[in-house]
Amino acid sequence: MGSGIAQVTAQSGLYTILYELNEGVLEKAKASIDKSLTSLVDKGKITVKEKEKTIARIQFAHDIQTCLADIFIEAIIEKPEAKIALFNQLAELNHSECVFASNTSSLSIADFTDVTVSRDRCVGMHFFNPVPKMKLIELVRTPHTSDETVVTCREVARRMGKEVVIVNEAPGFITTRVNALIGNEAFNMLEAGIATPEDIDKALKLGLNHPMGPFELVDLVGLDVRLKILEYLHQTLGEKYRPNSLLRQYVEEGRLGRKTGRGVYDYSQQKTAENKT
Ligand SMILES: NC(=O)c1ccc[n+]([C@@H]2O[C@H](COP(=O)([O-])OP(=O)(O)OC[C@H]3O[C@@H](n4cnc5c(N)ncnc54)[C@H](O)[C@@H]3O)[C@@H](O)[C@H]2O)c1
Repeated sequence: MGSGIAQVTAQSGLYTILYELNEGVLEKAKASIDKSLTSLVDKGKITVKEKEKTIARIQFAHDIQTCLADIFIEAIIEKPEAKIALFNQLAELNHSECVFASNTSSLSIADFTDVTVSRDRCVGMHFFNPVPKMKLIELVRTPHTSDETVVTCREVARRMGKEVVIVNEAPGFITTRVNALIGNEAFNMLEAGIATPEDIDKALKLGLNHPMGPFELVDLVGLDVRLKILEYLHQTLGEKYRPNSLLRQYVEEGRLGRKTGRGVYDYSQQKTAENKT
């Protein structure tokens, strides 16, 4: 998510620092941004010069001391304590007006920004995967987020060419909350033997006009990621988010989705075929 956000930020004309702890990941991010921009050139959406200018606007950083900016958008691991530590470290290095946005897809923004030094300048900016393609940003404000902070983030989103919805602080915001329920209900139906995964996916795609079926989507997102989100929403919002036991069983068996070659569907043959080509 970090590399996608860095790409759209730089494409919007803003000088961008992509900071990452792991140098190998930083190299991969560089390559993925290059590939994504090259595909835009190939499709005639940007010129080679625009691609070069965009890349030149990104500083790939491994040293936090170089992270001096007006707005930070964190997209690190989904652990509140890691996010708190990062925001506090950045606040110490930076001026007293800068904004701290989190790309968390489920955590309550107030829960971790209330313990940072500048909670009026903390906000959620929830992007979607793949960031360059997906239009929406959920802008999540806590009771302490200032109007100036919201205005700054709206302007950044506008420059990125994104649409914004404003959400008042709540775990899961709008999209994660709805998506978690649909995904969990799909597992409830599968477990009850109501239909095959293929037919549940087909029903939602052709009957409800969803671009992907719930099982195709969870295999892409990761069953472990979905389970963590459901556990968090169950804890914070109540019983209707209780994670389905078949989902839990698949995670325990290591069926985490495309990344492990098997989730609800089996991708092992696909991988072998890709390796041969
Ligand atoms: N994956 C998605 O589809 C998606 C969509 C929307 C939001 N999100 C949110 O974005 C965030 C990141 O998700 P992801 O899927 O990209 O995770 P990821 O695990 O792929 O990437 C997280 C990266 O953060 C790095 N990191 C960890 N601690 C760090 C620190 N202190 N400083 C700098 N870098 C650090 C890790 O090395 C890793 O490369 C999460 O909060 C997640 O909820 C993810």
